[in-house]
Amino acid sequence: MTVNIDRIQHDLEKINAFNATPDRGITRLTFSKEYQKAQAYIIDQLRQIDAQISISHGGNLTGRIVGSHSRGPAVMLGSHLDTVVNGGRFDGLAGVVCALETARVIVEGGIAHRLPLDVVVFAEEEGARFGRGLLGSSVWTGAIDRARLQEIKDDDGVSYLEAMALAGLTVDDQDRLEPANLRAMLEVHIEQGATLEKKGKRIGLVEAIVGINQFEVTIEGMANHAGTTAMAHRLDALQGAVRIIAAVEDIALRTAASTVVTVGKVVCDPGQSNVIPGRVKFSLDVRDADAAAIESAVAQIIQVADTVCKDRGLTFKITPGTRAAPVALSGSLIELMDQKASEMQIKSLRMDSGAGHDTAVMAGLTESAMIFLPSKDGRSHCPEEFTSPEDIKLGCELLLATAIELSR
Ligand code: GLV
Ligand code: MN
Ligand code: MN
Repeated sequence: MTVNIDRIQHDLEKINAFNATPDRGITRLTFSKEYQKAQAYIIDQLRQIDAQISISHGGNLTGRIVGSHSRGPAVMLGSHLDTVVNGGRFDGLAGVVCALETARVIVEGGIAHRLPLDVVVFAEEEGARFGRGLLGSSVWTGAIDRARLQEIKDDDGVSYLEAMALAGLTVDDQDRLEPANLRAMLEVHIEQGATLEKKGKRIGLVEAIVGINQFEVTIEGMANHAGTTAMAHRLDALQGAVRIIAAVEDIALRTAASTVVTVGKVVCDPGQSNVIPGRVKFSLDVRDADAAAIESAVAQIIQVADTVCKDRGLTFKITPGTRAAPVALSGSLIELMDQKASEMQIKSLRMDSGAGHDTAVMAGLTESAMIFLPSKDGRSHCPEEFTSPEDIKLGCELLLATAIELSR
């Protein structure tokens, strides 16, 4: 009964070959052809261990290994296959291959388990294609109405439902996830920060996941000629936007030491050197483990936007995107994993996650836990992302021990 790291490495290499940007990190957008190939690879691996495959509303994949108790609540293990644009080789994927390997070891070793084990791949965790993260899990759990998937579109105007259909995905699991059908959710994930590395620890046990509020801010001015319009007579949307964007850094610093605010995307329209920008859209990502801090930062940003736009004759509109409340993960699962880690002679570190995860959505339904693995130099969401095979193996061993205990 051992985790086979060569097999995991092979999975990682195979799946990372399905990549839309081979020269610049990994880009595997939800339901894209690279995503479909990655998912097909996982399905093939799951079929080899006789897992029952199903696709739920939201496009999430499940491979179920039935237990000796014919029904019973499931122990879910998994993560996501989609990436940000020009992302890394491990975010999401590390957790999927650890879940797959855990299922393989349990089936091949004939390890007795009463409860079903569900290997899951959540769809659109990053929001890189449809502008809204944690989407698959949110639909599956009923946090977002599935009818919305018709309206949620990518940059090319393709709706989430159309993209699923184009990828050949038919929903055959019509059920919403319900607490009664779940025993636990376990996710292995790279840390994506530098805490474990700095503290010389190989395993992190997540106590809490930050809350996230994302928005798209649209500033409307008036496009006009860059040579003939006097400075006093312009309604320059970009000049307004930059003043708001410059203010968010101070707002974050003022709000709380733990508050982080990011503007990661700016689109200037019409985007020509001799035209005054008529419209600017920018993204806003506000995070904190304290919901009140998020609310305070958002309110301050809206206040600045209001003042800047009034001063300059501009208007603004704020459209909400990803929204996740801060959550505490299961104390008893942390205890259990800590004990399993001790048996493996590992001293784990309890920590919080600054990144969002589908496990935060799942925590509303069932006992949930995350195992974090060190990220080299704390780099993530970039091509430099790296976690060592030895650490992935260790994380998988802890996942295996925990899954066996919970499904017994
Ligand atoms: C996903 O990685 C996020 O934290 O936004
Ligand atoms: Mn992730
Ligand atoms: Mn990510």
